[in-house]
Amino acid sequence: MKVNIILLLTFLINIVFGGYCTQEGCNETLLDKYYSRFSHYNISIEAMLKEKEEFKKQYSPNNEYGYNNTIEEFVAEELQDRLDNKIFFDYTANGVYTKSQMQKVFNNLNSKFFANAHSHNSVSSRTDNAVHEARQLILKRFNVTSAEYTVIFTAGATGALKLIGESFPWTNNSKFMYLRQNHNSVLGIREYALEQGAEFKTVTEEELTSEGCDNLFDEKCDGIPKILRKPTLTEYPTKVYNLFAFPGTENFAGVKYPLEWVNKFGNEKTGKNNNWLVLLDAAAYLSTGRLDLRKYPADFVVMSFYKIIGYPTGLGALLVKNEVMDLMQKSFFGGGTVVMSDCDTHFCLLHESGCQRFEDGTISFLSIASLKYGFEQQDHFGVENIQNHVMSIVDYLYDKLSNLKHSTGLPVFEIYGKHAQHDHSIQGPIINLSVKDEKGNYVGYSIVEKKLDEAGFQVRTGSSCNPGACYGYLNITSDEVKKFSLLRNGCGDEHDIMEGKPLGGVRVSLGYLSTFEEAYSFIEFFKQNFQH
Ligand SMILES: Cc1ncc(COP(=O)(O)O)c(C=O)c1O
Ligand SMILES: *[C@@H]1O[C@H](CO)[C@@H](O)[C@H](O)[C@H]1NC(C)=O
Ligand SMILES: *[C@@H]1O[C@H](CO)[C@@H](O)[C@H](O)[C@H]1NC(C)=O
Ligand SMILES: *[C@@H]1O[C@H](CO)[C@@H](O)[C@H](O)[C@H]1NC(C)=O
Ligand SMILES: *[C@@H]1O[C@H](CO)[C@@H](O)[C@H](O)[C@H]1NC(C)=O
Ligand SMILES: *[C@@H]1O[C@H](CO)[C@@H](O)[C@H](O)[C@H]1NC(C)=O
Ligand SMILES: *[C@@H]1O[C@H](CO)[C@@H](O)[C@H](O)[C@H]1NC(C)=O
Ligand SMILES: *[C@@H]1O[C@H](CO)[C@@H](O)[C@H](O)[C@H]1NC(C)=O
Repeated sequence: MKVNIILLLTFLINIVFGGYCTQEGCNETLLDKYYSRFSHYNISIEAMLKEKEEFKKQYSPNNEYGYNNTIEEFVAEELQDRLDNKIFFDYTANGVYTKSQMQKVFNNLNSKFFANAHSHNSVSSRTDNAVHEARQLILKRFNVTSAEYTVIFTAGATGALKLIGESFPWTNNSKFMYLRQNHNSVLGIREYALEQGAEFKTVTEEELTSEGCDNLFDEKCDGIPKILRKPTLTEYPTKVYNLFAFPGTENFAGVKYPLEWVNKFGNEKTGKNNNWLVLLDAAAYLSTGRLDLRKYPADFVVMSFYKIIGYPTGLGALLVKNEVMDLMQKSFFGGGTVVMSDCDTHFCLLHESGCQRFEDGTISFLSIASLKYGFEQQDHFGVENIQNHVMSIVDYLYDKLSNLKHSTGLPVFEIYGKHAQHDHSIQGPIINLSVKDEKGNYVGYSIVEKKLDEAGFQVRTGSSCNPGACYGYLNITSDEVKKFSLLRNGCGDEHDIMEGKPLGGVRVSLGYLSTFEEAYSFIEFFKQNFQH
């Protein structure tokens, strides 16, 4: 059967794309190579190519899809050898690096020696230069300069968030408010806030966008109580600062939130001069979106680079607006952050300059020196083109999946997020879904994941470490979360349905090298395995 498919495939591809065949056999072109992956899926290549024409007409009328017809060969050349014929649908977990990107990284590190920049010699000044260059490249991507923002390298978005929590000038009058759809790593900031006697509270998108509730921190707004804990500080800064946090794109269903909140928040929703600072979690946003900090000058922005460009891991950044840099209360100190300290007495002088004061220990300088090749990779296509490309596939996938019905007329999927509006400013490249049977009962996500995995699809299941979004979409109450949590361990495991409610879903996330053929294979998989 497989042989037949491959023969048919080769035949078709030679007809359609004009491969090279001689008497010694057919020479595999990059297109052949690209299409050969799909022979591992139970699909008709002919039907797929026909559907592709329709897809392009409807979803790519202005050539949004495929980077001017270069995607197939690009994937074959740059990614496919590492895919083991799998279909990777987990771009929100991590981006993918390309072969040429890694070649450049290798050539760079292999042709020069980089030394610890804390030493002062001519070799370590090369490291200084590389790190300086990386900071400039980052600032440029956000359309700002070092006069406006400071780049602090961290271990990742989570490390950056922890640093904000630790350093924010909390007082016993401060408020920490966050959109429900934030990642666990943002929620964790509340522990630092509570320690200093501050309060925290969640808000919904509706509360932020609707009229009527002037003071969102007022319990009258939604009846959700503020939470307090006994402070540990005995003396506070005189001025009170508050923090509001939201994700650019949420990692559960891919919903995007208005960047305008950065500008509006301090004034319209909380009263003028109320000292609200805004934290934008851009971790899931930046792989397909551009962030202009001139236009949306968030006080804090956090990111992980591997999510944007695949490599390197273990490196992220916290961007802090220079105006608020001096408010940050650094507590821990370590190598690199100290000008002078005394071992016997409680004396320590920290570095003036922001990045030096906040980067404890030796920064990951080889990774930082490798960043530029990832940025070059993203710029090769351009963020806007990437978004257009990815969203053309996401729209197609959503339309097909949401229209798939069982013979009983009931839908095969429940899909979360805001896809139905087909608006790329409010929905990013994630399709999070639950599968249902012909009677309307949920099929546990672990069963779906197992079958998908056997077939070659790599997705994420579970609650994506985003309790607010997950339990909100699934209509699970705080009491139920507590009850179920006693039965579970970690963010995604076997207990996938509790009392008829799914505790998580299947997250399909796409990225810059996703293709039509992958989406098509995915749809066919569900038709063959879950449609009854
Ligand atoms: C929206 C969002 N914020 C924060 C994080 C945490 O990123 P990291 O694990 O790289 O620190 C993630 C990762 O999935 C995310 O999607
Ligand atoms: C296949 O392509 C390679 C590289 O372009 C070439 O060297 C080889 O002669 C070709 N073989 C056939 C059978 O066309
Ligand atoms: C392959 O597809 C055919 C036609 O859709 C279907 O009848 C068959 O069950 C599928 N086989 C597998 C292994 O999924
Ligand atoms: C496709 O080609 C046009 C014309 O050369 C160019 O303007 C556009 O940026 C290209 N698009 C992509 C995604 O490379
Ligand atoms: C905050 O702490 C100060 C002492 O630093 C105290 O006077 C004040 O009553 C506290 N306010 C609240 C709301 O606990
Ligand atoms: C950068 O900011 C300037 C000034 O606000 C604006 O005109 C320009 O379009 C922005 N550029 C990018 C790439 O966002
Ligand atoms: C949510 O769950 C509650 C109780 O479990 C139920 O009364 C309510 O109708 C549900 N709402 C939706 C939108 O499913
Ligand atoms: C996908 O959606 C489900 C809801 O069905 C949710 O529980 C799950 O956490 C989501 N998965 C991921 C990986 O975000």
